[in-house]
Amino acid sequence: MDQASQVREKIDIASFISEYIPLKKAGRNFKANCPFHNEKTPSFVVSPERQIWHCFGCQKGGDCFTFLMDYEHLEFIEALRILAKRTGVELKETFDNKTYSIKEKIFNLNKVSAKFYNYILVKHPAGKIALNYLTKERLMSLPLIETYQLGFSPTGGVALSNYLLSSKKGFKKQDLYEAGLTFERVGRVFDFFRNRIMFPLTDHRDNIVGFSGRILSDKQDGPKYINTKETLVYHKGDLFFGLSAAKEEIKKQEQAILVEGEFDVISCFKEGIKNVVAVKGTALTENQVALLSRFTKKVSLCLDQDNAGFEAIKRSLSVLEKKGLMTTVIIPNGKDPDEAIKKDPYAFKKSIKAEIPVYDFLITKALTEEDKKNALGKKKITDNLLPFFAEISNEVVKEHYLRKLSQEIDTSYESLIRETEKIQTGREKDVVVYPTKDKKTRREVLEEYFLAIVIQSDNPKAVLSQGLQVLGDYVFESTSYKKIIDQLEDFFKRQDGFDGKKFAQDLPKELLKSFDTCFLLPLPKFETNDKYYEEARKSASELLTFYVKDKIKELSEKIKIKEKENSPEAENLKKEIINLMSLLPKALKA
Ligand code: CTP
Ligand code: MN
Repeated sequence: MDQASQVREKIDIASFISEYIPLKKAGRNFKANCPFHNEKTPSFVVSPERQIWHCFGCQKGGDCFTFLMDYEHLEFIEALRILAKRTGVELKETFDNKTYSIKEKIFNLNKVSAKFYNYILVKHPAGKIALNYLTKERLMSLPLIETYQLGFSPTGGVALSNYLLSSKKGFKKQDLYEAGLTFERVGRVFDFFRNRIMFPLTDHRDNIVGFSGRILSDKQDGPKYINTKETLVYHKGDLFFGLSAAKEEIKKQEQAILVEGEFDVISCFKEGIKNVVAVKGTALTENQVALLSRFTKKVSLCLDQDNAGFEAIKRSLSVLEKKGLMTTVIIPNGKDPDEAIKKDPYAFKKSIKAEIPVYDFLITKALTEEDKKNALGKKKITDNLLPFFAEISNEVVKEHYLRKLSQEIDTSYESLIRETEKIQTGREKDVVVYPTKDKKTRREVLEEYFLAIVIQSDNPKAVLSQGLQVLGDYVFESTSYKKIIDQLEDFFKRQDGFDGKKFAQDLPKELLKSFDTCFLLPLPKFETNDKYYEEARKSASELLTFYVKDKIKELSEKIKIKEKENSPEAENLKKEIINLMSLLPKALKA
């Protein structure tokens, strides 16, 4: 047995996946809202029997490895390492996976670099001014500096690269460049960060993926902050500053407080507010929200008190609503949380307690901007607010705010509803449909159902044989279902019982996906086992009917042509139709 199989044997997929998303029992399977696409009714199914998962919405599926890879954006080899460690399986082979080893190398390089920058800041004379700035002006203590591993990148522009290249760790120029730590000019290597306070940026698993660096004084050239350029492991829109340190507290508090900058996070932490992460000055992305939604269902936006901050609330809202997260707004008692805390930490804590649901916040804000007494003012207020209300997925919540607005601007609830519906229909036109594979024909859908009935019943052999009797000379539209049925017949020649796992093992790889689909297809709840036989016969007879009708239609068209040509072949074709009619299930012939 290979090592991946050894790991697979030791993991129960249902309890494994339920550590990530809540699973609900549904017959012999489990169901959930798919974590890989947005949906409100669950089409994500886990089979404990087969130890697989499959989503009927986005067609993703696989085993514990593919789940972890998709969920955590990992390479196979990374997933294998994590699960091997968890199950105590020793990995003997040395894996030669290029992408993985480059990632590992970058993590390692960043770790060594963070230590270097930290050393310069805390111990080296070159970091003295920076340390002074941090402790005196930004009120950071040494333990706080250690917690976030803050550092300083010296001015000269070669300190880090010289250190890394001369160290005994065997780093090469190319590695440094791939980590985004250096750049080359006229054949010489220079440090990317110079004369800046350094903040290591970690992913939620505590790997350092990159850095951001802040200038020391406002007189210094260049942007206030610069970040590592995109590398194999650093993607700006995928990350929060502070998440690895905050995630446990976010789970515990069932709330994530979102701020703009690094200093906001650190100052909050200093005051014991530890469920805080920073977006780093950009609008929230879908990836970020998906990441956050794994830890909490409630996000509190505590952004800068300026127009940009207000715009960021509006832009972030739709992404948050789409993921079904509850959103509130915290209004800090200062320009940003960092300043608010410096001014009055007690008042800041009070403002956290006074969080406002985002839609109430938007209403209040809109009412202060326009005159709600005249028609134009009312129009401006509703033009501003209704697009947000139209996106609220919970109908009760939506009605609550439409009613509130209707009272505030003294306009009927019904006309607000009508305006909201206009927005919704306008949007539906440009809704992106989830890219499913080519649409299935109704016969293919029925064939899938038929096969699902057979293999999910308690006696597949008997149910199949009854169904096949009804099907008679039916010709399958889907070749893979046909092939699976042939394999099943073959299988039952050798044995009576059915073991889905064993059967799947011997199935050609290209049929596995279709088999999994039928194995997991959600079926209605049948009260008795007899119902499986009945459903198999019923769907078989429907299939036969569709088949015969399709065929007759085809023949009738041919007959028309032949009759025009006065060809004697028309008569033969008519006989063929009569033959076909006799195939029709009795009840349908009339
Ligand atoms: N930012 C960035 N690049 C810039 C400017 C800002 O990545 N050129 C990010 C930083 O993470 C910064 C955040 O956006 O912390 C908010 O920017 P800003 O409000 O301008 O800075 P502050 O957080 O107030 O910075 P500080 O407290 O250090 O003065
Ligand atoms: Mn600030």
